[in-house]
Amino acid sequence: MALQKFLLLGLLLVLTFVGSPATADGPVCPPSTKLSRASFPEGFIFGTATAAFQVEGAINEGCRGPSLWDVYCKRHPQKCSNQTGDVAVDFFHRYKEDIQLMKSLNSDAFRMSIAWSRIFPHGRKEKGVSQAGVQFYHDLIDELLKNGITPFVTVFHWDTPQDLEDEYQGFLSERIVKDFREYAEFVFQEYGGKVKHWITFNEPWVFAHAGYDVGKKAPGRCSDYVKDANCTGGRSGHETYLVSHNLLNAHAEAYEAFKNCVKCKGGKVGIAHSPAWFEPKDFNNKNDADSIGRALDFMLGWHLETTISGDYPPRMREILGYRLPQFSSEQKRKLKNSADFIGLNYYSSIFSEHVDQPDHSKPLFKQDSLIVWKPKSADNYSIGSQPSTGALPVYAQGFRKLLKYVKEKYGNQEIMIMENGYGEHFTDDSDTVEVGIADHNRKYYLQRHLLAMYEAICIDKVNVTGYFIWSLLDNFEWENGYKHRFGLYYIDYKNNLTRHEKESAKYYKEFLGQGVRPSLIKRDEL
Ligand code: BGC
Repeated sequence: MALQKFLLLGLLLVLTFVGSPATADGPVCPPSTKLSRASFPEGFIFGTATAAFQVEGAINEGCRGPSLWDVYCKRHPQKCSNQTGDVAVDFFHRYKEDIQLMKSLNSDAFRMSIAWSRIFPHGRKEKGVSQAGVQFYHDLIDELLKNGITPFVTVFHWDTPQDLEDEYQGFLSERIVKDFREYAEFVFQEYGGKVKHWITFNEPWVFAHAGYDVGKKAPGRCSDYVKDANCTGGRSGHETYLVSHNLLNAHAEAYEAFKNCVKCKGGKVGIAHSPAWFEPKDFNNKNDADSIGRALDFMLGWHLETTISGDYPPRMREILGYRLPQFSSEQKRKLKNSADFIGLNYYSSIFSEHVDQPDHSKPLFKQDSLIVWKPKSADNYSIGSQPSTGALPVYAQGFRKLLKYVKEKYGNQEIMIMENGYGEHFTDDSDTVEVGIADHNRKYYLQRHLLAMYEAICIDKVNVTGYFIWSLLDNFEWENGYKHRFGLYYIDYKNNLTRHEKESAKYYKEFLGQGVRPSLIKRDEL
């Protein structure tokens, strides 16, 4: 810890020197001596993020229909740590209270998602629209705006309406494309007059890989040869590509619908991608070094490059052959340049080891990219540091490197960090309010990552314009239930879901308290 503090101090000193005045060819960073909002380019947006299923609860209110995760956690309780999202953290009823927390943080924006099954309880408009659901999101968005918080809205954060699962297996079928477009069009029309930042899909990579290749997340599908997965069906190394194919076509349709939506003018749409950064397992091994570009083509380029160039990265096609579906020329046309910014979620990094001889009889996404993910390097180093209660290694350098990589590979586009955060888990005994709010490791994680982002912007001149911490509150962490905590505010699950401010929240509040909030900058100056 002493070493970490020393490093941090050193880096903060560096800040003094790099916070040099503007250059004409990149973001303008004001000089500063201490990292805070004031160190970042004027107008930079800071916020917090959540997703409907993870926070809302109230699953039977306002005519909400069942969604994939409701049914999955009930059918396979052990795959959700024997917990459900029925109540979650009751954001549905407590959003006004939580908006006051956002306000007290001095944050500018809030990333939320719309639960599809609250709007179209049975997945399609013809089967009924829940006016109560539609109204809920109006009320939430209005309350955010009233409090000076800009809403960033995710259209789909993994909660497919169960009726579409039952009818045609959701994203496994190309029928999802039409239904998703109808839904996206509906929410754009409904909220597009007041919401100007949209994310069609959250983390397509996680959705397709965890759900349909290794069976870790709903719908929990994979082949029998996936160890300890206990899947109920599926075909690894195949379904994942099919699901993503349908998802990408659905995205392109939604993008077209957005561009046709008159009241949405001035708005932006993107996807929130979720790459890790990779370091070679053996720094002296050229194959390991070369494997990084390939790993990123598979994990990031799969969905990002496709929405820029209109087709999959050539390397994926070469390796996967017939397993990677083909787009028609019309689909390619719609996919090309179908995002207005690049959304990135960054959490951690891993070592990449080149694989020479894949086992063709057992196709799997990671193996397809001809790498093995390794937590240790060839000389037995871990990547970054990992406190014993931490969910993932802390490696802020990877964040900076990733941003530079995306800038250089994808043509210096606007990037927004849609999620960045630190997860921790405690034993039942040690999970108390006192321990939970003393989250110095999270504070350290945030300091390091904000600094890495600062360096990416102010030294590497990466065009990053916004940053969201995952998450405002502890919440339902998918397969880990409520055991993994990511929030700036601690939720006391044993005591009326009371919210408690953590050290990390105090830090973010202070960080954001300096400098000028974008909402206070006069419009013509922006
Ligand atoms: C997801 C969130 C999740 C977070 C922490 C991201 O992959 O978008 O839904 O809670 O990571 O695991």
